[in-house]
Formats: sequence, C-alpha cells, structure tokens
Amino acid sequence: MAKTLDVLVVGSVNLDLSAKVARLPQPGETISGAVLKRFPGGKGANQALAARRLGAEVTLVAAVGEDGNADEALALLQQADVDLGALQRLPGVPTGLAMIAVTPEGENQIVVAPGANTKLRTPDDGFPAADLVISQLETPGAVLEDVVKHCAGFVCVNLAPAKEVDVSVLTRADLIVVNESEADWYGQSLSAARGFVATTYGARGAKLYHGETLIAETEPPAVDAVDTTGAGDTFTAALALQLASGVAGPNALTFACAAGALATTRRGAQPSLPTAREVRTLLAR
Ligand code: RIB
Repeated sequence: MAKTLDVLVVGSVNLDLSAKVARLPQPGETISGAVLKRFPGGKGANQALAARRLGAEVTLVAAVGEDGNADEALALLQQADVDLGALQRLPGVPTGLAMIAVTPEGENQIVVAPGANTKLRTPDDGFPAADLVISQLETPGAVLEDVVKHCAGFVCVNLAPAKEVDVSVLTRADLIVVNESEADWYGQSLSAARGFVATTYGARGAKLYHGETLIAETEPPAVDAVDTTGAGDTFTAALALQLASGVAGPNALTFACAAGALATTRRGAQPSLPTAREVRTLLAR
C-alpha cells in the first residue's frame, strides 16, 4: 500500500465465548465435552484490528459497558494502538457477548447477546474524518445511516448479520460485502448498489461485482482451517483497504481472499488476524 490510510470503523465490540465441539448441536440437543476459550471479538472490533494489522491507522467508534468484559474485549485493540478515543463506555448495560460453537473443521455457529452495541449513538461532534469508513449491522441502523450521510471518503458496508437497511446505505456505499446466505437474504435489493459488491463463499472463494457486472472471481489459497470466526471480517477489511488504495478489483480480491484464509488457521477471531506481510508470504507460496 503506497499511502497509510486513515480508517474509521463504526461497529460492534463483543467478548467471544468460543467452545470447540465435536460437532454443532441439533435443535434441542445438548453437547458436552467442549473446550471453552474467551477471545476479543465483534464484527466492528475484528474489522478495526484487521485493518490495523494490515497497515492502516484505525479509529473505532463503538459502545461497551463498564464491566470487566469490556477490558477483555478491548485488550488486543489497545495493544495494537487502535484509537479508542471515541469509544462510548455506557453505565448499566453489559458489553456484547457472543456464544460460539466451533467444530474441528472450523465451521461455526454464533449467538450474540449485543448488550451495549444496541446503545451506540452517533458522536455529538460527528464522526472523525477518514479515507475509508467501514461499518456492519451489529449496531443501530440510525448510526449507519448517519455514517453514509456524513462521511466522505470510501465507504464499505458489511451487510452482516442480514437485516433491513435504508436504501441510502446501498446507494452510498462504495463497497458492500455479503456472504452467500446474506446475498440470498437481500436478493434483488442488492441491485440498488452503485459501487462494488463482493460475495464470499467460504473456502470456495469470492466474487466481485461492480453494479451487476462480475469483474473478478477468486479461490483462496489452500490452508488448514481450524476456526472460521473472523474470516469474513478479515476479508472485508482487506478488500476495503485494497480498493480504497486504488488496487484493481482482481488483485484486491486475491489479496482479500488470502487474508481471509489466513484468519481461519488460528483459533478465535482477533488472535488470528494476519499482517500484510503474512498475506504476501501466503500469496508468494
Ligand atoms: O464475525 C465474527 C464475529 O461475529 C464474532 O467475533 C462475534 O463476536 C460476532 O459478532
């Protein structure tokens, strides 16, 4: 990347309670024998740290409670010097929690108790200026609408988890990222998008469209996946950084797929986020 980008991420912070299980439970079933670990997570925080590890200067606007889980959830962001000056620490609400089951093949199932994330508000003095703004759907829709209305620069919206969004989000975003099931959920409404649209297919790769025109299709490099949590967040941050830096669609997609693949090779969302050097080394293999 030629210039260091200033990135603003507006989104969620969670503490992930991640249980390694032999297989995912069926409805009504109890599965025992899990090995539990706690990791910092949340789509906003994951995308912020992914962008930071890939070389950007990053500010995160997010909301947490005043509980001990907040400190645990923010630890890796603080270590990486993500700017948390605009963080909203809210009394009387818990920090977001995600309960995650992960199989030996790395497949997961996630239930989120969003807590403080639902109370995020647009800062009184507005959003800090940035070259690139990234947001998702784990925080209030009104805040996202303010982001797309007031933020200049390249805007990336990860439509995850799928829910109704104002059409202004689709028309303003320079990049929209969805996974396969989110793409199905939004269906034809995605045709309102005016910029890039990336669809991810897990280990099968990703496609990049501009409007409705397919401009690139890539399979990720083969890796030994142990946990796919955070792979989509890594892909989103990497693709947004590449496109906002002016990298051509096909090269940007190849880089983002490799970054996402690397994020599956270690347990947990944030401990697995790769650096730009690790991505380049994988691509040169
Ligand atoms: O995208 C993965 C993230 O989704 C997890 O870290 C979890 O917190 C949920 O927000």
